[in-house]
Amino acid sequence: MNDDGELPAGVERRTIGGRERLATRGEPVSGEPTDGEWRAWDPSRSKLGAMIDFGMDVGLTGGEHALYLGAAAGTTVSHVADFAGPTYAVEFAPRPMRDLLDVAADRDRLFPLLKDARRPETYAHIVESDLDVVVQDVATRGQAAVAIRNARFLSEDGRLLMAVKARSEDVTAEPSDVFEDVRSELSDEYRILESQRLEPHHTDHLGVVATPR
Ligand SMILES: C[S@@+](CC[C@H](N)C(=O)[O-])C[C@H]1O[C@@H](n2cnc3c(N)ncnc32)[C@H](O)[C@@H]1O
Repeated sequence: MNDDGELPAGVERRTIGGRERLATRGEPVSGEPTDGEWRAWDPSRSKLGAMIDFGMDVGLTGGEHALYLGAAAGTTVSHVADFAGPTYAVEFAPRPMRDLLDVAADRDRLFPLLKDARRPETYAHIVESDLDVVVQDVATRGQAAVAIRNARFLSEDGRLLMAVKARSEDVTAEPSDVFEDVRSELSDEYRILESQRLEPHHTDHLGVVATPR
């Protein structure tokens, strides 16, 4: 934990480009503003960034061993790898994976895996067990099922930090109904500690903090 109390060590609110922004220390990945050493972590481009910016109790203190599901080109997982320990980044689409490999070239704690998060048995031999945190942002149908299948990697008091995109489950349903269904499905495997909608940064998304039962 850093001096701000609520933020993990390695995450700070710093003045960059004339205004206070969430920031981590590392090489920029997509032209984000920096103060030379720290780079801005934009909550409107990152659901985990929004969860932290909103003050959700994500339970991160820095140095966590992490699994990140839905890494895409690395916008968010690069920030995680800036403050966490070993960070395994699962992405199943080859195109963003190419960019993620470039991002990982500057980060010796970031391990990209071209894998399907619905099939954790295909990376269970690479990823550590007893992880401190699983971050999930897959924006696909069956988001609760993905989280449940990957619970196997978490330690007893580990955290799931999950973004749920309502429209990926059902474009026609009321997002609040989708979120209720996802929370209910997750409850088989997880105790939900907190959940909060991520507007205005992310429309029709829910941030969930949970721990294994
Ligand atoms: C919303 S984007 C993630 C953005 C990223 N988390 C960030 O903030 O930088 C969702 C990503 O999840 C990936 N994805 C969806 N289903 C997946 C699966 N079953 N396994 C691995 N990746 C998946 C997609 O290819 C896409 O790149």
